[in-house]
Amino acid sequence: MVSTKILLDEEEIPKQWYCILPDLPKPLPPIIDPKKKSPGPGIVPQIFPKEILAQEMSTERWIDIPEEVRDVYRLWRPTPLFRAVRLEKILKTPAKIYYKYEGVSPPGSHKPNTAVAQAYYNMKEGKERMTTETGAGQWGSALAFGCMFFNLKCTVYMVKTSYNQKPYRRILMELWGAEVYASPSTKTEAGRKILAEDPNNPGSLGIAISEAVEDALTHEETNYGIGSVFNHVLLHQTVIGQEAKKQLELLEEYPDIIFGCIGGGSSFSGLFWPFYYDKVSGKAIKDVKFVAVEPTACPSVTKGEYMYDHGDTARLTPLVKMHTLGHEFIPAPIHAGGLRYHGIAPTISILSQEKELETRAYDQVEVFDAARLFARTEGIIPAPEPSHAIKGVIDEALKCRETGEEETILFLLCGHGHFDMQAYDDYLQGKLPPYEYPEEEVKKAIKKLKELYPWLEKLPY
Ligand SMILES: Cc1ncc(COP(=O)(O)O)c(C=O)c1O
Repeated sequence: MVSTKILLDEEEIPKQWYCILPDLPKPLPPIIDPKKKSPGPGIVPQIFPKEILAQEMSTERWIDIPEEVRDVYRLWRPTPLFRAVRLEKILKTPAKIYYKYEGVSPPGSHKPNTAVAQAYYNMKEGKERMTTETGAGQWGSALAFGCMFFNLKCTVYMVKTSYNQKPYRRILMELWGAEVYASPSTKTEAGRKILAEDPNNPGSLGIAISEAVEDALTHEETNYGIGSVFNHVLLHQTVIGQEAKKQLELLEEYPDIIFGCIGGGSSFSGLFWPFYYDKVSGKAIKDVKFVAVEPTACPSVTKGEYMYDHGDTARLTPLVKMHTLGHEFIPAPIHAGGLRYHGIAPTISILSQEKELETRAYDQVEVFDAARLFARTEGIIPAPEPSHAIKGVIDEALKCRETGEEETILFLLCGHGHFDMQAYDDYLQGKLPPYEYPEEEVKKAIKKLKELYPWLEKLPY
């Protein structure tokens, strides 16, 4: 009988996070302050606590996890690692498929790994409130959860389409004590401006970020928390990969290939960074490959341009070099698979540019097909986001069936899909068409960005 669920004891919750920055093949290009047209953090120091800023630029590989944070992690960590034997069987593959499951956290995803840490550092710095944005509500509910443990108030700007169509995550946030506004809202200058131009604007993550950042900037006792993209967020997620490595060690296994989905890149980085560290420090037993999967509806890396752009629509945030679809990107309402951010973590971009990482894109129908097969074999209902990784894994396992290769595949099931029933219902009723973001739109957005900042191309980074 193959053991299908590998658990660790509480003491095995990692005591440090791993920071990839000292191990990147090239240093990250600096952040650019558009007002000065030169390197500078812009508003960033005004919205994050000092400890987080230090982590953002850390030259240290290992950063201690505060005991107070580990104490909250104990509620759900260490998370289980499963072997997907039933999926392997139905695919008739010689590959072994393992997945690390983060859906056991109370908010149902990997997001609280960083939310709890961010709330802790803000509390330590004497802040009283945190603001943030959320799409369908995964990140907002994680921050509401984190703030609750450290007695901070929490304000969440939720993309209007989700606010109206998906009330359950809003209710969850409110239950954990957060106040939630549909974005664009009348609470902020950025929101009011957009509503004046287009009262029916459906909202986007870029707009919601502008609102949350403005709220933090204009209130002294308030800071902003971000759920992905930034280095410190990805760093906090590395508890995932460190645990997975230990769990595989118990089985005397090491992955040949690791899959994860990417929206901003935090969950996948949390899984693969510790294996990347093995690689660069000469400890890897195999030449492990990393594959990031994104939707064809929001193809930030596969179709986006690697250039400086803002993280938000109102251009409050400084310019960061990353793959981007342009900061005015609004996802097609028909897209149900999550992962809707126009940019990506700069570390994902640089690793992809340096060919350390492969990126693939799938459309929502093939992704939901994969999710259904997973639910019907493994039982767990995956969130649409990690279902992109599942599709990648299924393709890889089928390739192994052809070649006879006995690969060990690892992927991150970063959340459950219990709040995504509307998307599943639409899928089951055949209402979700395959959708690909048009190349033309990307070109238009990039042209606009280059016209906005013609000096960008002259920068030496
Ligand atoms: C369950 C889940 N997975 C993945 C993501 C994508 O973000 P990231 O790439 O930072 O993990 C999200 C984003 O909200 C999410 O809710």
